[in-house]
Amino acid sequence: MTHVPSEDSHKIQVSTAKSPPPNSKRTIAHELESMETSARPSRCRETNGGPAGPCNPWTGKPFSSLYYQLEEKRRALPVFQERERIVEIVKRNRVVVLQGETGSGKTTQVPRLLLEAGFQRIACTQPRRIAAVSVATRVAHEMDVRLGELVGYTIRFEDVSHPKLTRLKYVTDGMLLREAFQDDRLSRYDCIILDEAHERTLSTDVLMGLLKGILKQRPELHMVVMSATLERDHFCTYFDHAPLLNVSGRMHPVDIRFAERPVFDYLFAVEQQVRQIHENEPAGDVLIFLTGEEEIEDMCSRLRHYSRATARKHGAPLQVLPLYSALPMSVQERVFEPPRPPEARKVIVATNVAETSITIDGITYVIDPGFAKVKIYNPSTRVESLLVSPISQDSARQRAGRAGRTRPGICYRLYTEEAFRTELPARSHPEILRSNLCNVVLTLKKLGIHDLIHFDFMDPPAPDTMIRALEMLFYLGAVDEEVELTQLGRQMAEFPLDIQIARMLLESPRHGSSNEAITLAAMLSVPNVFLRPRQQADEADARKQRFVVSDSDHATLVRVFEAFMDHGCDRQWCAENYLNDRALMHAVNIRRQLELMMQRMGLRICSPGRRAPDRWIRLRRCVLEGFFSQTAFWMRRRDYLTIRDEQLVGLHPSSVIRHRPSWVVFHEFVLTTGSYIRTVSQIEPKWLFELPTKYYDLLEYKEGASRRALELAARLTGQRRSAAP
Ligand code: CDP
Ligand code: MG
Repeated sequence: MTHVPSEDSHKIQVSTAKSPPPNSKRTIAHELESMETSARPSRCRETNGGPAGPCNPWTGKPFSSLYYQLEEKRRALPVFQERERIVEIVKRNRVVVLQGETGSGKTTQVPRLLLEAGFQRIACTQPRRIAAVSVATRVAHEMDVRLGELVGYTIRFEDVSHPKLTRLKYVTDGMLLREAFQDDRLSRYDCIILDEAHERTLSTDVLMGLLKGILKQRPELHMVVMSATLERDHFCTYFDHAPLLNVSGRMHPVDIRFAERPVFDYLFAVEQQVRQIHENEPAGDVLIFLTGEEEIEDMCSRLRHYSRATARKHGAPLQVLPLYSALPMSVQERVFEPPRPPEARKVIVATNVAETSITIDGITYVIDPGFAKVKIYNPSTRVESLLVSPISQDSARQRAGRAGRTRPGICYRLYTEEAFRTELPARSHPEILRSNLCNVVLTLKKLGIHDLIHFDFMDPPAPDTMIRALEMLFYLGAVDEEVELTQLGRQMAEFPLDIQIARMLLESPRHGSSNEAITLAAMLSVPNVFLRPRQQADEADARKQRFVVSDSDHATLVRVFEAFMDHGCDRQWCAENYLNDRALMHAVNIRRQLELMMQRMGLRICSPGRRAPDRWIRLRRCVLEGFFSQTAFWMRRRDYLTIRDEQLVGLHPSSVIRHRPSWVVFHEFVLTTGSYIRTVSQIEPKWLFELPTKYYDLLEYKEGASRRALELAARLTGQRRSAAP
């Protein structure tokens, strides 16, 4: 360990100590005893005449054999080797920025070390749900304690922590922000760690601003900002020149191989690359970065097919494993386990969760097509959408780094070197600069922060985006004309949901249909439930027909959920109907929680009954209550025009709607080969004028297609509210 003073006296450079990791049980047990921490193990009493071994200070029980295995690994991590330095600097400073290579042990080790050093209650944020769960599980194993007691996690709709027992909690950044609703100084915690800060998610950025204020009010609070890359000076400056601690890990060289010419079908190219590796390169696992669940599952089935077809010829088979957040924990964990069969080559097909949030050991080959799904927001059209976009050069470097963790590796970039230099941005924009800020503004308001324009954001969003968000909150009834939060707005913020879905729920009792609306909210919160395997697409479409409500994708979702319940949540039934049983199970769980929340707020749970002829009309009206700003009317040719921002869009091919209703409400806007609206319901234009919002006041519209369409609708439905002269 060396301390290198530099021009910038705040920077402390620490390099990894070269002492070999202890490699026997005795050494570890011995060392454990000599560690000066509050968690010093004591000796367990002799049992059954056996010798007394060291015992877990947290549980008072002897350590399990898994403990010793994991202990050996963690002791070799760069962060562990720097533990004294890290603990000392955190104790001596209010805010510390810790930068370390992915896999150096930041997430798993730092929180625990601080706990052992005497901090009482620690929160460690994660931008991704899957990482929070995976890391909490790992740390509980490493500490040999039961998950949900001393170590726990909280993600949306899933709280595996104990209000008293949990002292180290991994929590998504969004959920920690919500904790501040109840406890605006986060006074439960004496140490807050913002992990993966380089990702610059919306919630992490808001938390940083919030915590900067809290630090002034709570002199005993300590904070650590952890980042895998760069921007660290940015963090130090933002936190009033906080010291920077750099833990350098051991990295092996990675040979970068660019494509020689542009690749047009990257999925095909990925498959070819895997074959090439498997048939020509020495043993070593493969990590592939793709953009989302569907693409990943598709690739997995292609690769499994290849493996089955050629296993005999090439000796070892492939073990193909997907990794994305919608997978259940038991499946996710398989990526960390040794291959099955042992001689197999593991091929992990992941989203960019594997870029920095989750480290998998043993990867030697990385295949990087250069794309990720990115949220893009266009404030002038108010459209937020997920777009498959080129990654940044920073991300590309991180991805390549995954190949050199345990030994030298190769990264295959499926784009040319020239594309890397000229087409990939150096780094990606923070999410706050490319988001619809409605939820953020509502959150800040709920936290009692009124001066939004001067809130201390690391990268302040354009005032225009803020104003548009406030305007939308006004239309939604969340703030009044004085920009004060209304009762409705306060309730909306209570739900861990998009504000539009929250409003749909809050207004649903008025339409006598809260039961259906809750089901719909749950279904909209899980991944797509309809499976459509390429080879059985026709069969899958035919099965889907059984659930179709012909004028509403929303109602169709509710019907699927109800049928799932009627069939006792049966997996076999799901398989027969091409439905994703895991997503449906998740929806059941979410639905239960939302219903409880509604009851606690004193909202009526009601339904017109399954046979009521107006059942789906009521539901469609509920949808409109939340999503009134997302309507579109039919233009003569093939397309719809969205209201106000007047984008030409088509009905997404997955929609159940086959006729062309003159007005529709939609859940999302997607850009793929064209512009589409997805999850759509027919609406009656007269409902627009009956909404408790000024959004459809004709005075709000300039001359143009939207205004003409509304005027026509008003005339046809005999509306008096028409403001036309
Ligand atoms: O946060 P950082 O990227 O610095 O590293 P980490 O997530 O703390 O991971 C340290 C080590 O723990 C890596 O070698 C991982 O492979 C291992 N780990 C694991 O095996 N299983 C997990 N669920 C999490 C981490
Ligand atoms: Mg980490």
